[in-house]
Amino acid sequence: MTRKSSRRSFLTNISAGVVGASIMPEILRAEQRPALHQTLERKQFASANDQINLALIGAGGMGLADTNTALQVPGVKLVAVCDLYDGRLEEARRIYGKDIFTTRDYREILLRKDVDAVIVATPDHWHKQISVDAMNAGKSVYCEKPMTHDVTEGHEVVEAQKRNNVVFQVGSQGLSSLGNEKAKELLAAGAIGQLNYAEGFWARNSPEGAWQYPIPADASDKTVDWKKFLNTYPDRPFDAKRFFRWRCYKDYGTGVSGDLFVHLFSSLHFITNSKGPEKIMAMGGLRYWKDGREVPDVLMGMFDYSDTKEHPAFNLSLRVNFIDGTADSTYLRMVGSEGSMNVEWDKVTLIRNQSWAANDDPLAATKLGKGKKSEERKKILPPDTTVYQVEEGYKGAHYDHFHNFFTAIRNKSSVVEDALFGYRAAAPALLCNDSYFEDRAIRWDPNQLKVIK
Ligand SMILES: NC(=O)c1ccc[n+]([C@@H]2O[C@H](COP(=O)([O-])OP(=O)(O)OC[C@H]3O[C@@H](n4cnc5c(N)ncnc54)[C@H](O)[C@@H]3O)[C@@H](O)[C@H]2O)c1
Repeated sequence: MTRKSSRRSFLTNISAGVVGASIMPEILRAEQRPALHQTLERKQFASANDQINLALIGAGGMGLADTNTALQVPGVKLVAVCDLYDGRLEEARRIYGKDIFTTRDYREILLRKDVDAVIVATPDHWHKQISVDAMNAGKSVYCEKPMTHDVTEGHEVVEAQKRNNVVFQVGSQGLSSLGNEKAKELLAAGAIGQLNYAEGFWARNSPEGAWQYPIPADASDKTVDWKKFLNTYPDRPFDAKRFFRWRCYKDYGTGVSGDLFVHLFSSLHFITNSKGPEKIMAMGGLRYWKDGREVPDVLMGMFDYSDTKEHPAFNLSLRVNFIDGTADSTYLRMVGSEGSMNVEWDKVTLIRNQSWAANDDPLAATKLGKGKKSEERKKILPPDTTVYQVEEGYKGAHYDHFHNFFTAIRNKSSVVEDALFGYRAAAPALLCNDSYFEDRAIRWDPNQLKVIK
């Protein structure tokens, strides 16, 4: 379907009363359909023969959340946990039982024959190395976002996935949601006309929201493998703040853009089939949380997406504010020539521009008859706002994302967010930091995957 014809098709679909799930087969070619759709239709695997043995590397907040979700998928068993802080290993044994193998050294996990797949939920500066080592050891990998700490690291992960022919999924779970799938379907059907702009933000206003996590009372270089944590970054004496609030420091974290913008890129690229922006510019500052952190707490990013065969040219504006007095919230809105949609994981709110719909409605024009001006007769209008809401009992994006991962392992099928996709989502987020710190716009080639000097 061409972009010009897409709006006409959308109106036709409205008049035929088939807008909704039933238009899916017509508007998405088979190869564009998310793998989840293909796999959910297949049989469930829960027998012992199909059991997937899982290990967790990085048993902090997200590692435990990931594991708890993963274990809801039938036929998945946790066999091992790795962390650098003893308290987290004790906590893992308390939750998952004394039988699980625990270690401070992830390489011991990778040597184990009974491990099929690993979750990598360490801080960002360890994602690339553990993922590559795990794939080289033949393990399937679910790596948390952002896929890498630095934009130059992406190639190694993409190549490791190709070379080892293993399943690798990045953990921006939102794009597996029913909400993102509905938005993709609506955009392709021309529901908002021609896309020209998108915006997203994350607003927070609390110490924990701004990464001031509690530091355990027993934190020390005895209970923590501090040297290992540093990876290749500069040696320094044990610092509990750096270890437990790693997001605040450039050596380990990726700033608000790597932490949060990356989710919005993943969703946006999934919905639009985009490979990414070509121009990236960020500005912001450290406005409030002056606790020694090295990264801004308010950041805005502007992005230029060129006209491609997948989508028209459009602009994206993203914002994070960690001292936002409005409310804790997040938001992704896509704007087209004829309407807009607010995209959530469990809901899409489509708002159509009525003046367009009314003047362009061929049925209304016929009924008016010759010689009459359209102003002379009022029309009956379809609703300008349509809310698509998931059914009660929906297990959510996080479950869907893990379901997609484990099904790909069992069926040797594709995942929705592989290394190439993960690289393309991470790159513009990571380049926001470079733009901010270097005070310049950055050009990125999303096809060749390189920064243009
Ligand atoms: N997908 C999401 O919605 C989402 C949400 C939150 C965090 N995350 C991502 O998950 C990752 C972890 O974030 P978090 O909030 O759980 O952080 P966290 O600090 O709570 O947990 C990280 C854990 O990794 C451990 N660790 C550090 N280096 C390690 C290594 N080399 N080997 C083994 N363990 C190591 C730490 O001891 C810690 O327990 C980050 O990459 C973050 O961006 C994703």
